[in-house]
Amino acid sequence: MVSLRGKKERLGAAAALIVALASTFAHGRALPQPREAVFAVESELAPTSIDRLVEQPLVVDSASTYRASEKAFADGALRPADYWASEEGVGHFSEWSKSTKHDFIADWALGKANEWTIVMGNEGGDLDSMASALSWAYHLSHSTLHHPQPRKAVALLQTPLDALDLRPENKLALDNSKMSSGHRDLLTIDELPAHPRAVAKQIRGIVLVDHPLPLSVWADAEVVGIIDHHADRGVAPHANPRIFETVASCTTLVARQMLDELEAIPGPPDGPGEYHMPHELLELMLDAIAIDSDGLNPKKSTKTDADVSRRVLERSNWHNESLSQVMDRLDKELGEAKRDLSHLSVRDLLRRDWKGDVVETTDTATPAIHLGFASTPVSIDDQIERTERKTLKDWFRVERRWTAEIRADVSICLNKYKDHKGNKVREIVLTVRHDHRINRTQADDLFRVLSSALNESFDLEEHPKMKHHAGKKRRQMVWVHGRKDAGRKVVRPIVERAVKSWISP
Ligand SMILES: *[C@@H]1O[C@H](CO)[C@@H](O)[C@H](O)[C@H]1NC(C)=O
Ligand SMILES: *[C@@H]1O[C@H](CO)[C@@H](O)[C@H](O)[C@H]1NC(C)=O
Ligand SMILES: *[C@@H]1O[C@H](CO)[C@@H](O)[C@H](O)[C@H]1NC(C)=O
Repeated sequence: MVSLRGKKERLGAAAALIVALASTFAHGRALPQPREAVFAVESELAPTSIDRLVEQPLVVDSASTYRASEKAFADGALRPADYWASEEGVGHFSEWSKSTKHDFIADWALGKANEWTIVMGNEGGDLDSMASALSWAYHLSHSTLHHPQPRKAVALLQTPLDALDLRPENKLALDNSKMSSGHRDLLTIDELPAHPRAVAKQIRGIVLVDHPLPLSVWADAEVVGIIDHHADRGVAPHANPRIFETVASCTTLVARQMLDELEAIPGPPDGPGEYHMPHELLELMLDAIAIDSDGLNPKKSTKTDADVSRRVLERSNWHNESLSQVMDRLDKELGEAKRDLSHLSVRDLLRRDWKGDVVETTDTATPAIHLGFASTPVSIDDQIERTERKTLKDWFRVERRWTAEIRADVSICLNKYKDHKGNKVREIVLTVRHDHRINRTQADDLFRVLSSALNESFDLEEHPKMKHHAGKKRRQMVWVHGRKDAGRKVVRPIVERAVKSWISP
């Protein structure tokens, strides 16, 4: 425990830093770059962030992360002069998206956050999450436009601004939908006006799309709706809508609900009739469904995906083309973009598709653990080639920096690739750190527990590169295994269960 005096001193230092930061802002200098530290899902924000502010210069960025402050966005002060003006998106959809982001930030400053519903996808931030969140936010606000109190809804991408660029397929889809470059018409997590925990307490509620369970930072927000294609985790039984169905793409479920409700709005003279559905949005939906269903490949998708795609297509600008033509084309274009990760460093590969959160353990004396998963389509050998010294040790060094930044205790990297014979290979990399929530003794034990939980489910073999790496001692392991279905959807629950039931020695 820190003594009160020590704490006071640190608080004083932190306050000084904050003042310094604030004055930098006030003078409009030094636009801080969004940092990955936003991924840090800390359970106790205030104490840690202050500690970190004082102890590590790195964290200055973290403190300024949720920084699209009160006035900043409304008047654009913290942005470069050309922020809103240059390279604007030209679409109707882009305009709506940008003005919604603007209004949300402005209402926050005016103390009217309680009028807002935030629609959020998962923190991996793939195209499906992005399209689902944008579509549902658009629907919520437009379907109630004729109400006395139209619903205010904004889509939140739970990835930082710069992480969006790690998904070339998202970039392409946004370009195709005539959105601004740099995604500045989208609200990303690092642009929230305050830490998510603070935002959660003030807003009207959240709608989850493409994930069944809110991240722990949103625990204080009411879940008012869920639309998802993962397993139902029993969250928010009274949410409305509350839709769980197994389909290729969550966007399918969002689009179906949206079109059903849209078509049910009575036309004049009894009602306002359908609201305007921009073709860019419809096309974004088709993009998401195409990439998740491999172009409506029957092995990868359901009849629902096909039926809904057809309805969306009919309203889009591509309606003169056949469904299979369009979906094949999109799958090919976006798929190519998605697979082209040759330019990414190991660090970027890890954060490109990172999903992590703090997992509470069942045993009350055992600390909660921040557990994170990366998935990559690149072998560990290929990744090692991308490190400075081209060694496994160097790979773990990059990994260690990344998990230090986001304060993860356990990290798992899942690689899937084809070997030169065309066989699918899966790799699991496990590391456990001892410097965040647990000490060495605990970390050693947790590493052992997780290793055996994984070994029970997958026939693990040590990766050949492990021969010359004292991995076990460092709690670093790379395994290879042959279980074909073992993507994150399969591995994550196994590891989560093992973490939850772990009892600290
Ligand atoms: C559909 O219409 C677009 C322009 O409206 C045109 O460029 C395209 O060739 C048409 N496709 C087919 C298959 O008719
Ligand atoms: C690690 O933490 C546990 C639980 O708090 C404690 O019992 C143990 O003595 C600690 N071990 C070391 C080496 O600090
Ligand atoms: C996995 O379990 C098997 C059988 O219990 C054992 O022989 C093997 O060494 C274990 N492998 C690892 C990587 O722990």
